[in-house]
Amino acid sequence: MSSHFLQSVILLAILFFNNGETAAIKGVGTDKVAASVHVRNGLPVKSGAMRIECSFHGKSLGIHDLGVGEDYSWTVEEEKALYFCKAIWGTKMGSFHAFQPRRDANHAIVFWLVKQNGFFLSWDNSTWIQRSPWDTE
Ligand SMILES: *[C@@H]1O[C@H](CO)[C@@H](O)[C@H](O)[C@H]1NC(C)=O
Repeated sequence: MSSHFLQSVILLAILFFNNGETAAIKGVGTDKVAASVHVRNGLPVKSGAMRIECSFHGKSLGIHDLGVGEDYSWTVEEEKALYFCKAIWGTKMGSFHAFQPRRDANHAIVFWLVKQNGFFLSWDNSTWIQRSPWDTE
């Protein structure tokens, strides 16, 4: 009787300890590689550079001029933050959610391809989904 009770207590203690440990590891996130975002200028060859500025929590990652065929990338510092980009191409303006925690959390790389008809998202750099168009002037 008392040895059964002792076994139960030990079992509970082990379960409790293991759960605590797992939660601690998840919290620190030591075994997870930070995601990165790649934005590629896929505009027509003869068009001028496009200008892009991305930010999270209102903090700008800087303004970048991307020539045709060029790639701009960064590492997601805050997995719970929404990364928002604004682009200007000639007289057109557009914007897209470069990294959206709920949508992208399970992907190591989020790819964006900017084309004449808008902004395309991919997680494998080959299958593209159009997410937003260029705004009409
Ligand atoms: C994505 O694919 C293009 C070719 O379609 C390639 O040039 C580029 O390097 C790839 N990007 C990454 C980050 O693998």
